[in-house]
Amino acid sequence: MLRLSICFGSACHLRGAYGVLNAFKALITKYEVQSEIDIEGNFCQGQCTEGVVIKINDEIITNVAQEKVYEIFIEKVLGGKQY
Ligand code: FES
Repeated sequence: MLRLSICFGSACHLRGAYGVLNAFKALITKYEVQSEIDIEGNFCQGQCTEGVVIKINDEIITNVAQEKVYEIFIEKVLGGKQY
């Protein structure tokens, strides 16, 4: 089970955390991996200038924009398998 945490601190919120969340949710539904991933919201991760900040398990990924979610999803959630 993967744990995806998205920062919803004020800086990340302004930088589009909600759009990032929705993009992940749409892909999770599309690829039917609901049972393989847990999504949670986080408070400020202390890297506000590099938001949106997300964490997949213990790996922190910065500068996440909605347009980058697909790439991250394929690599980190599907393990590079595109189907
Ligand atoms: S608000 Fe997201 S790292 Fe500070």
